[in-house]
Amino acid sequence: MPDHPKTDDLDALKAETEAALAAANDLRAWDAVRVAVLGRNGALTQKLKELGAAAPDERRDRGAALNRLKDTLTAAIEARRKALDAAALDARLGNERLDVTLPPRPVQTGLIHPISRAMEEMAAIFGAMGFAIAEGPDVEDDWRNFGALNIPAHHSAREDMDTFYLPGVDADGRRRVLRTHTSPVQVRTMLTQPPPIRVIVPGRTYRADHDATHSPMFHQVEGLAIDRTLTLGHLKGCLIDFLRNFFGISNLPVRFRSSYFPFTEPSMEVDIGWNRRTGELGGGGDWLEILGSGMVHSKVLANCGIDPREWQGFAFGMGIERVTMLKHGIPDLRPFYESDIRWLRHYGFSALAPAMLHEGI
Ligand code: PHE
Repeated sequence: MPDHPKTDDLDALKAETEAALAAANDLRAWDAVRVAVLGRNGALTQKLKELGAAAPDERRDRGAALNRLKDTLTAAIEARRKALDAAALDARLGNERLDVTLPPRPVQTGLIHPISRAMEEMAAIFGAMGFAIAEGPDVEDDWRNFGALNIPAHHSAREDMDTFYLPGVDADGRRRVLRTHTSPVQVRTMLTQPPPIRVIVPGRTYRADHDATHSPMFHQVEGLAIDRTLTLGHLKGCLIDFLRNFFGISNLPVRFRSSYFPFTEPSMEVDIGWNRRTGELGGGGDWLEILGSGMVHSKVLANCGIDPREWQGFAFGMGIERVTMLKHGIPDLRPFYESDIRWLRHYGFSALAPAMLHEGI
């Protein structure tokens, strides 16, 4: 029995374990070291198990030495894990670093098409005068598009409008057409809504016409006001107010010229002042035709179930492309429908600044 318990093997285990820990560069290697030393079959665990077979006084000294070694190695293993964790975190922080000085990526925001913008502006201006918005289908029947509006079959207006007819007839035996104007929505509104009526109708219209200033599909806005005492004076005041607001010219000259439409009597075409030479709107001495209007014909009221002895009113219709081109100095009609993003970036409107009367249209 030696005086000093043998501890050479313990020094060797300590040195080996420390070397293995130092060499373990990731958590997986670190865990292998931990298991090899402290695991169920680990080197140190094995030595502790063997302690039971030793003589009593050797057991005491060697037990104390083994427990010290266990504390030392446990601490060393834990310290290595902390070091590895810290290194892993450093590596992650290094990889995930943000460079806040990089320029931002461009954000593509959409733009409102000038036609949509014009419709919004019209809705804002007429809305403030008490007009609501009405809509109707693009495919109409020939009675609403023509007959109810006092345009009989074989009337020249039907040919003038270069109508697109669809094949066949509808359930009422009526021919179907792509509406040539928004006026059929006058008929729809009067048939479904008791007077008084104040509506505008922005929408698509179709005529078989295609050149630099005409597109087979274009847009109109219709207006209809029916009440007991509406007069030509109301029509004029309403349209003068609208045109001056829409074009943003408070003294814009407006001229009413006698004309003819089958569905209004009397009828007037409306001109605004401009300078033919410069294209500038206002008091240039020249006149530009801009819309059609008139007092709703008594036959139209009667066709739509409204008693013309009790009710009267006015209607108007204008092409949206035309007034939009004039307002913004857009020279060509065709790009309106070409979806060219460069054109839209030039003429489009921010969706974040909607049309509002108090800011000026
Ligand atoms: N519907 C007519 C057109 O397309 C315009 C109009 C509407 C005229 C209402 C008078 C009244 O030309």
